Amino acid sequence: MRTQVVIIGGGPSGLLLSQLLLRRGIDNVVLERKTRDYVLSRIRAGVLERGLLELMREAWVAGRMEREGFAHDGALIAHEGGTFHIDFKALTGHSVMVYGQTEVTRDLYDAREAAGAETLFEVEQVEIHDADGDAPYVSFRQHGETRRIDCDFVAGCDGFHGVSRQTIPLSVRREYEKTYPFGWLGILSETPPVDDELIYANSARGFALCSMRNANLSRYYIQCALSDKPEDWTDAAFWQELKRRLPGEVAERLVTGPSIEKSIAPLRSFVCEPMRWGRLFLCGDAAHIVPPTGAKGLNTAASDVHYLYNGLRQFYEEGDSEGIDRYSERALARVWKAERFSWWFSSLLHRYPDQSAFDLRMQTAELEFLRTNRAAQQAMAENYVGLPY
Ligand code: APR
Ligand code: PHB
Repeated sequence: MRTQVVIIGGGPSGLLLSQLLLRRGIDNVVLERKTRDYVLSRIRAGVLERGLLELMREAWVAGRMEREGFAHDGALIAHEGGTFHIDFKALTGHSVMVYGQTEVTRDLYDAREAAGAETLFEVEQVEIHDADGDAPYVSFRQHGETRRIDCDFVAGCDGFHGVSRQTIPLSVRREYEKTYPFGWLGILSETPPVDDELIYANSARGFALCSMRNANLSRYYIQCALSDKPEDWTDAAFWQELKRRLPGEVAERLVTGPSIEKSIAPLRSFVCEPMRWGRLFLCGDAAHIVPPTGAKGLNTAASDVHYLYNGLRQFYEEGDSEGIDRYSERALARVWKAERFSWWFSSLLHRYPDQSAFDLRMQTAELEFLRTNRAAQQAMAENYVGLPY
């Protein structure tokens, strides 16, 4: 079997890249380790930057998002019993779109099926060969059979635990990592959101976030210990703890109900350099992870897809390799800025186990500066709505 681009991983990065390439007549195959249903059962963040919206439009998968998504012109930050507003629209001229990552992935799978695009599910033992030469190929097993696909390029969109990053030799690869001493416990509930806007709360009991998917579907998170398990938290205990972390008037308005999903995610910052090795390109979580505060994971994956798609397009349509040659450098320049914002926003809002009285005062001073200073709000808003590609 032969194709132009083998895409490893059928998460949002791989699917979006595939769809964009298909629209330009660039042949590709997506290899996914799990099933479609499994991929669509993962609940992830739900805030989309305008750059991602534009990519979805270009890939012709924006229809449902435009109809069912919610434009948000600002967000609230809660601290010391009150809230203050960051007006993204007034500060930057842009808003963000609240629409679940799971729905983006579903729309991409539906579009592939409609277009007859090829996804090979339940593949095992994926290996990338000769990525540093002119004729790479990918081998794998599927339903008991060994298979091989020859290609021009390999896009490693297989997430943090995938094989693509590991294919880059250690002598070339440099990894940067920071772990955080807490996790996020998240629930989804069929209740109306507590507010029209997202609320990010810094409280003495730890961080909390009030988010949403639609008028009757809410997503809430609280900072928890890394040793906690979802089973340790009854719904009642979750709601009680969330309320204690929100300003009184917000807690009073909170509508609670049974959770329909409950999970814990650790927080991590991670970057792998370079993002290209020969004919292999890393994209999305395969190359970098951000803590979820600020919802930059999917959006940073999307900026990689933008640079890689345009590089491949330039190569196939104009015979010019400039875009793919500079892919790693361009993608990483933006990745590091998203890393910085996610790290800063996380540091601003969480309680750290080893935080001193001085550290706490610094956090309060920074929140106070953000509350009262337009330049500080503008810097926050520009990052939140998404830096330009
Ligand atoms: N072979 C084939 N597929 C694989 C392999 C492998 N060896 N390893 C992993 N995969 C698949 C996973 O099953 C998953 O469906 O690759 C996909 C990677 O998807 P994601 O982890 O969602 O990563 P990505 O598409 O880059 O999306 C980035 O997802 O994790 C969030 O916060 C992140 O929002 C961001 C977005
Ligand atoms: C979410 O809705 O899941 C969400 C929103 C904003 C974040 C993180 C997660 O910063």
